[in-house]
Amino acid sequence: MWVKDILDKGTAALREARVDSPRLDAEVLLSHVLRCERVMLLKEPERRLSDSESAFFMSLVARRAAAEPIAYLTGKKEFMGLVFNVSPAVLIPRPETELLVETAAALLSGIARPVIADVGTGSGAIAVSLAFLAPGARVFAVDADPAALTVAEDNAVKHGVADRVTFAVGDLLEPLRGQVAVFDLVAANLPYIPSAAMEALPPEVRREPTAALDGGPDGLLFYRRLVPEVKRLLKRGGRLLAEIDPGQARAMSALFQAGTWSVEFRADLSGRTRVVTARLLGPQAGDETATEAGSA
Ligand SMILES: C[S@@+](CC[C@H](N)C(=O)[O-])C[C@H]1O[C@@H](n2cnc3c(N)ncnc32)[C@H](O)[C@@H]1O
Repeated sequence: MWVKDILDKGTAALREARVDSPRLDAEVLLSHVLRCERVMLLKEPERRLSDSESAFFMSLVARRAAAEPIAYLTGKKEFMGLVFNVSPAVLIPRPETELLVETAAALLSGIARPVIADVGTGSGAIAVSLAFLAPGARVFAVDADPAALTVAEDNAVKHGVADRVTFAVGDLLEPLRGQVAVFDLVAANLPYIPSAAMEALPPEVRREPTAALDGGPDGLLFYRRLVPEVKRLLKRGGRLLAEIDPGQARAMSALFQAGTWSVEFRADLSGRTRVVTARLLGPQAGDETATEAGSA
C-alpha cells in the first residue's frame, strides 16, 4: 500500500472512532512506523509500505481508536524541547508543567550550583529538564513507583545528565530525610485530581497510572503532607514549586504558615493559576515563628 492510501485509511478509522485529531494522529503513527519525520509523508506520498509496516500501522490505529494515548503508542513525548521516553508506567508530561520548569529555571539562574529535588518525578520530565537547563545543578528525583524511575533514569541518560541526577524510590521526601537545609528548590507535580473526579476523566487520561493522578478527597492529600516535611530540607530562602489545578489555589495557600512562607502563584498564558511558588523565610529578630521554621 502507498503512504497516501494508508494514511487515508487510518484517518478514516480514527475519525469513525471520534478521535479528536484523526489526520494528525494517523501521520504521527505512520511516521513512527516508518521512522521518519512527518514531513516525509507529504514529500513521498507514493512511497510503498511493506505488508508488515502496513499491518503494524493499522494495529496502532486500532489501539488509538480504543483511546490509548498516542504518546504510549510511540513511546515518546516532547517536553521543554526535549524528547522524553514514556511508558504506561508514567504520566505523559503535560505542556502546563513547562510553566513550573520555566519558573524554576528563572529562579535558579543566579545560583551557580543549585541543589534541587523533584518529588513524584514520573518520567523525570522536571528533574531532567532542570538538570539540562542548569548545567551546574545537582538533582535528586524521587518516585514511589520503581517502574516510573526506570523510565526517568533512561531519560537522564538520553539527555546526558545522568551523572548529576540521583534517583530514589520512596514516599515523598522520605529518601531525602537526612539532607537537612540542603535544597535551593524542591519541585513537585504530585497527584492533585480529587478522587471523585477520577471517573469523569477522558478515557485516554484514565489509561495513565491512577497513582499519578488521584490526589485524595480534595486533591491535596500529597501536598498537605509535603508542605510541613519540606521545610527542614530547604535552605532559608529556598523554594517549593508545586503544580496545582487552578481551582486549588486558595486551599493550597492555606497550607503555608504565614510568617514562615512567602507564597506566590504563577498563571499560564490563558490566565489559569498553575504553579505555587513558596519561599521559606529566614528568621527575623523577635520573630519566633520564623526562627522555628528556619531551624525545624
Ligand atoms: C502527576 S505525576 C507527575 C510526573 C512528572 N513529575 C511530570 O510532571 O510529568 C505524579 C507522580 O508522583 C508519583 N507519586 C505518587 N504518590 C507518591 C508518593 N507518595 N511519593 C512519591 N511519589 C509519588 C507517581 O508515581 C507519579 O509518577
